[in-house]
Amino acid sequence: MILMDALSLQKTKRRPVWIMRQAGRYLASFRKIRQKHGFLEVCDSAALSLEVSLLPIKQYELDASIVFSDILLPLRAHGLKVEFTDEGPLVYAPKSEAELSKLRPSFDPHEGTPTILETLKLLRAEISKEKAVLGFAGAPFTLLVYLLEGKLSKDFSVVKKWMFEKPEIVHLWLDRLASSTGKYLEAQVDAGANAVQLFDTWASCLGQKSYEEFALPYARKALSQVSAPSIYYVNGISGILESAASVGAQCLSIDWRMSLGEARKRTSQITALQGNLDPHELLLPKAELRQRVFRMLDSYGSGPGHIANLGHGIVPGIPEDAVKVFIDSVHEWGQK
Ligand code: CP3
Repeated sequence: MILMDALSLQKTKRRPVWIMRQAGRYLASFRKIRQKHGFLEVCDSAALSLEVSLLPIKQYELDASIVFSDILLPLRAHGLKVEFTDEGPLVYAPKSEAELSKLRPSFDPHEGTPTILETLKLLRAEISKEKAVLGFAGAPFTLLVYLLEGKLSKDFSVVKKWMFEKPEIVHLWLDRLASSTGKYLEAQVDAGANAVQLFDTWASCLGQKSYEEFALPYARKALSQVSAPSIYYVNGISGILESAASVGAQCLSIDWRMSLGEARKRTSQITALQGNLDPHELLLPKAELRQRVFRMLDSYGSGPGHIANLGHGIVPGIPEDAVKVFIDSVHEWGQK
């Protein structure tokens, strides 16, 4: 598997490529399924999750298939009510310590999140041996953001208030989420995931010191329970890159705000790197997009260890043709 080779810094015939959120709303085939089924209905059905996981793999020459689910489903297994609306996810966040203490401190993945495990089994059996199957989870800090904020936040004021007023409760919950996330990821590996991605999307809302106190140790604890290679993603990783490189992942996923070359220099190539085109650059004219992809691949430089991807998930409204241009450009560039 070309993606697994790149993850372990081995030479590959070309750079592997996949796309964060590749099974998403930019695909007409996904939107068609969503007209008939609610988002959670898809997540709770292995047959539908499998069908959706396969959509991008059937349409494009991708080197990995990420299982269809969402990072918030384990919060539901912890006892929270989770909904998905047109404006994004909605978590019924506890407002007090008393409410928080009613949540389940842990869950058994086979009981709390059975569908993702069943889907992974089907997915691994279904797709070519050349393609990697990826499992995933939200990292403890990013999960805690949703748990306490209840929705996408611009300033993270609720979680920060908890962090600074009740640090011991926050640490207790981060530790619980680290244990449950580690178990959840390892169950995904047992079910067929070849590698896993840990999304710490919002950890960059923290300064370096707070990141090292509230996010890094818990992401590290979660990953320490996983036997397969892992990829660690933070949106806006530049300010905490060197710390993030010590999380224990085989690969760091880099967003577009820094170049891959700079990330590689600053981390002394102790990990592979993934990324990092700005998802909105897929809106550029074809020739310009192709140049930007080449520039991204050039920026990494020579040698193994790069997985081509976007710097964040693909967004609705990106033309399906542009995705083909992105992938074809990676193939065309070859290996240098
Ligand atoms: O294709 C894949 O990558 C696999 C499935 C996947 C989804 N969400 C499906 C989804 C994965 C890996 C995720 C991760 C996820 N979910 C993250 C981390 C990655 C990132 O983008 O930062 C986060 C923060 C979430 C939480 C979440 N779920 C948000 C903010 C939203 C709404 C905004 C959006 O991107 O649509 C969701 C809903 C969601 N998760 C959708 C999909 C396909 C769209 C829901 C719909 O169909 O209406």
